[in-house]
Amino acid sequence: MTKVTLIEGDGIGPEISAAVVKIFEAAKVPIEWEYAVAGLTAIEQGGRGVPPETLDSIKRNGLALKGPTTTPVGGGHKSVNVAIRTSLELYANVRLARTMPAVETRFKNVDILVVRENVEDTYSGIEHFQTPNVAQGLKLITRQGSLAVIRYAFEQTRKLGRNKVTCVHKANIHKLTDGLFLEVFRQVAAEYTDIETSDIIVDNCCMQLVTRPEQFDVLVLPNLYGDIVSDLCAGIVGGLGVAPGGNIGRTCAVFEAVHGSAPDIAGKGLANPTALLLSGIQMLQFMGWIGYAQAIQDALSSTLAADMKTRDLGGVLSTNDFTNEIIARLKPAISIVSDSTVADRVTHPVPETISEEWVLNGVDVFIEWSGELTNVPELPDVPEKIGPLTLAMMSNRGTKVWPGEMPDIMLVDHFRVRYLSDKLITRLDVINVLVELDSLDFKWGHIEILNSVNKQPRYSNAKSD
Ligand code: NAI
Repeated sequence: MTKVTLIEGDGIGPEISAAVVKIFEAAKVPIEWEYAVAGLTAIEQGGRGVPPETLDSIKRNGLALKGPTTTPVGGGHKSVNVAIRTSLELYANVRLARTMPAVETRFKNVDILVVRENVEDTYSGIEHFQTPNVAQGLKLITRQGSLAVIRYAFEQTRKLGRNKVTCVHKANIHKLTDGLFLEVFRQVAAEYTDIETSDIIVDNCCMQLVTRPEQFDVLVLPNLYGDIVSDLCAGIVGGLGVAPGGNIGRTCAVFEAVHGSAPDIAGKGLANPTALLLSGIQMLQFMGWIGYAQAIQDALSSTLAADMKTRDLGGVLSTNDFTNEIIARLKPAISIVSDSTVADRVTHPVPETISEEWVLNGVDVFIEWSGELTNVPELPDVPEKIGPLTLAMMSNRGTKVWPGEMPDIMLVDHFRVRYLSDKLITRLDVINVLVELDSLDFKWGHIEILNSVNKQPRYSNAKSD
């Protein structure tokens, strides 16, 4: 027996988890479930949202199946899912969007694997108020994080016999962050010459998905676009009730349905266990237990094809009756075990970094300044020169307001002032800029160091980047 952690979750979680456990038992899958708690259930038991024992259980077993957990909006405990992903460095989120028999959809023949970066981007949660009126969140994209998820996407494409990987981004606007993701994608693509590759801007991708989804095979995306696009793909194949997902790390993996805890139908016997069951099937495939995965998938498909469905899919069956219909259609699993064993899963070492010649050549200082901003707008009268640094640019909400003509935009009390130098400078020069601005009563909030890379200035005053 292989031990797998089971987090039932809350809301409809316990009902759909029980259904999956029952189907796995009926299919004689040799899994021993190790029950663990998270979210509301853990808090009600006096613990944290994700108790250390739960993380230990997942680490020990290397695998978990997780039911949905409620996240309070605008307060309360942190999202359990985000906490599990970041604590276990589950760097890739994999969701399959495939049309299923008898699930009514606008499109036929959709079969898209969405591979989403799972820990970085705006989800790092580094957010601060800069002034009483301005909140800022950092979008962090790293070379290693991008390498890990993009390599995983290519490896999966090869392993699953798929043909094409498309990188989804917004590098035309987020030139450095999404630009880095796309640069890494192109590097990795060059290593997989047997796989067709392309890239697409995220807004166009959404439009193409709702007009010609059949054109896509595997999508790889940074976290935020991945979050949105994977739900979009779920909608295309029949909604959240049938969308499975897996979170893959270097040493463990957690599989869960895409939908939430559905408090509106919890405890009423109406929940559809399909998405969690499909997540369980995805887990069996990941374990290499292809025979069991296929047997359960076939039983599920023939149940749906016989129009045996829960209410969310237009049927009349309760969770229990639907579960029993699946069990009634189970055929004995042909023992097919793929060569991907548990040990093989740990194939992704921490990716390498690169080193470049970085030279400090400037600083962006973000200041709170609320002079006259409305009638005839004034700009903060910051010094044009401080030590070896010269004022190069000022912007407000990302739009350049100096030098050049003042654009007709709404100004807020948060300016970026950029100082650059064509000489070698030190961090002490940067500190002197802050001291000088402070002595002139400019309230600086945060700074960003500007570097030139391999003698090429990465930043200039030429555009409002
Ligand atoms: P939700 O996915 O729970 O529900 C949206 C709608 O879909 C509801 O009408 C619900 O009844 C229906 N629905 C969802 N799953 C269903 C199923 N298996 N069978 C039949 N109908 C189903 O989304 P909502 O209401 O936005 O979120 C509720 C809670 O779940 C929130 O606290 C949210 O933070 C949490 N959540 C948890 C997730 C997780 O643990 N993986 C993922 C998404 C949300």
